[in-house]
Amino acid sequence: MIVPQHPLDTLITRLPKTELHLHIEGSLEPEMMFALAARNGVALPYADVEAVRAAYQFDRLQSFLDLYYAGASVLITEQDFYDLTWAYLLRAKADNIVHTEIFYDPQTHTARGIDFAVSFNGIRRALLDGEAQLGISFRLIMCFLRHLSEEDGFATLEQAMPYLAQIDGVGLDSSELGHPPSKFARLFARCAELGLPAVAHAGEEGPASYIWEALDLLKSRRIDHGVRCTEDAELVKRLAAERIPLTVCPLSNLKLCVVNDLAEHNLRELLAAGLCAMVNSDDPAYFGGYLNTNLLACRAALDLSQDEIVQLIRNSFEASWLTADQKAHWQDQISQALNA
Ligand code: HPA
Ligand code: ZN
Repeated sequence: MIVPQHPLDTLITRLPKTELHLHIEGSLEPEMMFALAARNGVALPYADVEAVRAAYQFDRLQSFLDLYYAGASVLITEQDFYDLTWAYLLRAKADNIVHTEIFYDPQTHTARGIDFAVSFNGIRRALLDGEAQLGISFRLIMCFLRHLSEEDGFATLEQAMPYLAQIDGVGLDSSELGHPPSKFARLFARCAELGLPAVAHAGEEGPASYIWEALDLLKSRRIDHGVRCTEDAELVKRLAAERIPLTVCPLSNLKLCVVNDLAEHNLRELLAAGLCAMVNSDDPAYFGGYLNTNLLACRAALDLSQDEIVQLIRNSFEASWLTADQKAHWQDQISQALNA
């Protein structure tokens, strides 16, 4: 946790916010990992919570994913998924998040013999309770794991059929290099026919060409991460012209060595290029912090101005899948908070 120090830090914590790039399985804190392991009789390869935290030293995306999938093995019952999601929503409330669009990975669970319905129902029940009790609106995005086959993706879509009315969109995550968006063009075309809007991780570790593919072949409405877009001037022009959102995750980029130092992150450059970039926490239990911690760390490392901070937060509402009326409401709330 970063303690607010700078006058702008108070503004960061005070403003209403939305989060658009959060893997619910990545919000599994070590304490809950141990509690669920005990509840379900699952053996963990760690002595205690400190040993888990000490293991969170990553040199690239894959080294994180290996632990992330292993950690998810403690999630067995619908109540486990409910508890996981509820714990995230309490953190979100503390950060003044008023709307969240979360990812989940059904294949991580079905591959272990956990029925599609178990993860889906647990997560969604908590999201509905969060809306009713905490006032946090939500969208639920089902992600396909790109290291698995197209066939596995189609099988997952088939399992999702009874739930499609409650799934707001589809995403693409997991090991990026060697698994370009083109691998899933037919699957995403089928999702589009079914009325599911798409997003995709691209340009985190993968090259700018993966971002072009996500846009042109998957019809991705947002790009998750996308920070490598700055290697391609034509691409940056297009992203700016079409206001295609980039759901940037700064502490994730630092932990996974996408950048070596937060001070070298291109977040300000993205804003200066007129891109609809905003800050998100990705897998906060693994990367050292939730949304406010990400914003506070960027404020300090990049010396963000008030205008830049407000732009990031406004961009997040603009990029969300809230209705036009809801977006106008929250943009107005931001203006009022700034005037207060
Ligand atoms: N990248 C790709 N896949 C993921 C990530 C990420 O940052 N987090 C969880 N799955
Ligand atoms: Zn992600």
